[in-house]
Amino acid sequence: MADNKLRICVLICLISIISASSVIPSATTFVSSNIPDPFGKLSSTFYETRCPLALATIKATITTAVLNDRRLGASLLRLHFHDCFVQGCDASVLLKDNATFKGEQNAFPNVNSLRGYEIIDKVKYILEKLCPEVVSCADILAVAARDSVVALGGPFWLVRLGRRDSTTANLNAANSDLPSPLLDLKGLIAAFGKKGFSADEMVALSGAHTIGKSKCSAYRSRIYNESNVEINYRKSLQETCPRTGGDDYLSPLDTTTPDIFDNAFYKDLSSYKGLLHSDQQLFNGGSGSTDYKVLAYAKDATLFGLDFANAMIKMGNLSPLTGYQGQIRKYCTSVN
Ligand code: HEM
Repeated sequence: MADNKLRICVLICLISIISASSVIPSATTFVSSNIPDPFGKLSSTFYETRCPLALATIKATITTAVLNDRRLGASLLRLHFHDCFVQGCDASVLLKDNATFKGEQNAFPNVNSLRGYEIIDKVKYILEKLCPEVVSCADILAVAARDSVVALGGPFWLVRLGRRDSTTANLNAANSDLPSPLLDLKGLIAAFGKKGFSADEMVALSGAHTIGKSKCSAYRSRIYNESNVEINYRKSLQETCPRTGGDDYLSPLDTTTPDIFDNAFYKDLSSYKGLLHSDQQLFNGGSGSTDYKVLAYAKDATLFGLDFANAMIKMGNLSPLTGYQGQIRKYCTSVN
């Protein structure tokens, strides 16, 4: 008799547990904005329910800032690249050094060179007010890069979202994996190959140099020592970039339209007006293995826009942290 009573009690308990669990989904939906995506896939609609105004907020802030200072658009595009090529697109590049932690900002390719950190902090500040601890810094970087390109007249692409932020950074990887402007074509192909990109994709991504500027220290040896520099271009560059001193003096990477995201960079290369040694490596007078791509992009801006957008999507997908990995930082500059 006592046994039967126990059985009935267990049954009733089980039924109530099962029926209670069937209402849990609506409760989790209610708080879902703070719960990571357990399936760990990036999706362009990731913030649609979690923070519906996130993308519009990033776009408004970035577009206003870029139209006010057009070079900032270039700087934000580069920031996303330097993030993704070092342990994936996880906002590791935004972590500042402190007494116990060394980040990537003082790595050789970044120090005194990367720009745009403050506007990312501003976007993050606004988003934390709107949807606390929902939008990752890594996603902000990816969307800011796309919105910058669009603001400067370049192609649009759908950014997949749901990246989470790292709790670590890697100074050594920043020094070894970010390509140097002194690389030859073989080295460039290898550096991008290491991240899964073909030589053609490397040529398309390099088209980012159709906007922005470089310091004299990065191109000095080219304009004083190399023969494949158009003669008048060399003369004008030597006026801004002396043989000694003036390391920080700037010149545009695209000599004709440095504030417009177009295909002029490839036209520059085909007339030996590449600013960086590494850029001119992509075109070698008809005999280089990537010359045909440079010529194709110089002729067809639409083709370049398409290939660039696809390569950017691929770059944005480099080993993201998803699901329960990493965290959503409250401040992009430090771990929670
Ligand atoms: C192909 C290998 C690459 C090399 C060797 C390289 C190197 C450089 C160097 C030396 C500068 C000038 C930095 C300075 O003087 O402060 C620069 C600027 C820039 N890079 Fe690259 N880069 C490469 C690929 C890329 C890629 C793939 C992107 C983006 C998708 C990119 C985006 C930019 C932009 C937009 C600027 C101008 C930044 C500004 O004005 O603030 N670069 N790059």
